[in-house]
Amino acid sequence: MTIASDLLAWYDANARALPWRAPPGSALADPYRVWLSEIMLQQTTVAAVKPYFAAFTRRWPDVLALAAADEAELMAAWAGLGYYARARNLVACARAVATEHGGRFPDTEEGLRKLPGIGAYTAAAIAAIAFGRRAVVVDANVERVTARLSALETPLPAGKPMLHAFADSITPDERSGDFAQAMMDLGSTICTVRRPACLACPIAGACKGRDEAERYPLKAPKPVRPERRGSIFWLECDGDVLLCRRPPKGLLGGMAALPTGPWLPKDPGLADAPIETDWLLAGTVRHVFTHFALEASIYRATLPHVTLANDGGQSWFWAPITRIEQSGLPTLFAKAAAIARSMQ
Ligand code: ADE
Repeated sequence: MTIASDLLAWYDANARALPWRAPPGSALADPYRVWLSEIMLQQTTVAAVKPYFAAFTRRWPDVLALAAADEAELMAAWAGLGYYARARNLVACARAVATEHGGRFPDTEEGLRKLPGIGAYTAAAIAAIAFGRRAVVVDANVERVTARLSALETPLPAGKPMLHAFADSITPDERSGDFAQAMMDLGSTICTVRRPACLACPIAGACKGRDEAERYPLKAPKPVRPERRGSIFWLECDGDVLLCRRPPKGLLGGMAALPTGPWLPKDPGLADAPIETDWLLAGTVRHVFTHFALEASIYRATLPHVTLANDGGQSWFWAPITRIEQSGLPTLFAKAAAIARSMQ
């Protein structure tokens, strides 16, 4: 038996039932649902994705519905999932499929890669899972499984091309979508980061790293994450709070937000406060982004009546405080809002 046939037999009996999947060995899954799930699952766990996937497919059941979506509404529905460029690309991709491909996803890796937000991994995943093409699908789970199978001594990321070549060498011609998802399921249930369950592994017999699986994959030391300081402003008036829409490009681009000052190595204090007033320090919030960690002071003030005439191009708007959870604030600002409100 080969690794592929042992793993597929295990998958036939043990596949996780996930809302975007077709059962193993059955008809192929809907390309729209496969695409949406693969975008959501980038850097995000299955458990975190499930409620978002359910909400999105209820609200936008197919790619044409998503192509017609209001962008601000879609960004709000994505709030909390993080990596917001994915949401901006989602609309762009749906619109490209609608206008340039007659509402059908291209069915090859090459065609898929030309779409906004679809890179090598996602193109391979969709081609294999939704279109039954042979494709080599390597995500973080597959990297861990293949690093252990091949006992790769080269640390990541330098070893990634070797893992891709190894994954290619064990990917079957048939059912490569099921094979990829079997590798993912193995990685998240048996070949786990810590304390892998090698005794329960269907391909342990072929695993070169088996006796010291936890040692793989070796990783190059990570650069330290810089620390930044910032200020977040909670300005109330008449039961409303002042929000803004972040510029379309850059961190949290296009998302609704609380006004902020600059994010710098040193505390910026009240720089860029939306108004000069008696700001009270309400607390601090910490949030870790991919490239830096932020510690922000939360400043609070109440205006007797609206005195903000000019927003200086910052796209301010007022939102009712009692419905702040529905404003689509990303996690940093949702945390800051909870802290500011707990002071009331
Ligand atoms: N992670 C990324 N894609 C996945 C899939 N199709 N099934 C399970 N986990 C995944």
